[in-house]
Amino acid sequence: MTAKRVLVAYGTKHGATAGIAERIGRTLTEDGIEAVVLPAGDVHDVRGYDAVVLGGSLYAGHWSSKAKHCAERNADSLRHRPVFLFSSGPLDRSAEERNIPPVPAVARQMQLIGAREHKTFGGSVTARTPGLLARSMLRQGKGGDYRAPERIEDWAHHISAELAAA
Ligand SMILES: Cc1cc2nc3c(=O)[nH]c(=O)nc-3n(C[C@H](O)[C@H](O)[C@H](O)COP(=O)(O)O)c2cc1C
Repeated sequence: MTAKRVLVAYGTKHGATAGIAERIGRTLTEDGIEAVVLPAGDVHDVRGYDAVVLGGSLYAGHWSSKAKHCAERNADSLRHRPVFLFSSGPLDRSAEERNIPPVPAVARQMQLIGAREHKTFGGSVTARTPGLLARSMLRQGKGGDYRAPERIEDWAHHISAELAAA
């Protein structure tokens, strides 16, 4: 195992993406990696990590600005280590059924920092999600938790394997 310490950073509004990041962190830990899970806004220097996983939620087609700014702030260092990006969004099973490409701004970030991969996971809006828009989505029957734990864990194991092979 060459990568020993991995940062899992997340940009969230209401916690769903934090839940995905925590699950990735737990799975990496099971695989023998020291995983540190942090809000993207708290990440000021990634040089203490051998690899970085960075995720953000999608709102109106835009990736979390906290995740985006984290990528921009740390771009120079990110370019020199393996980076895996993810998005949390679709409130249906589409992310399980097909590979959903990154939104254009995330695709640009991937190029700028040389990220290895991007994955879209289903999102979550439930009765506990605050906000008028969330409530109106629920009333229209568009809510639910579509984060698919097994898919998240599979991707985290895949990251462990990629890092081990590096
Ligand atoms: C007002 C609103 C707008 C949303 N827009 C999108 C969108 O454009 N694309 C998408 O895939 N998901 C969209 N979602 C779903 C969220 O991305 C999903 O609920 C996500 O898991 C929220 O993560 P967070 O709790 O970490 O902020 C939207 C949700 C809300 C409430």
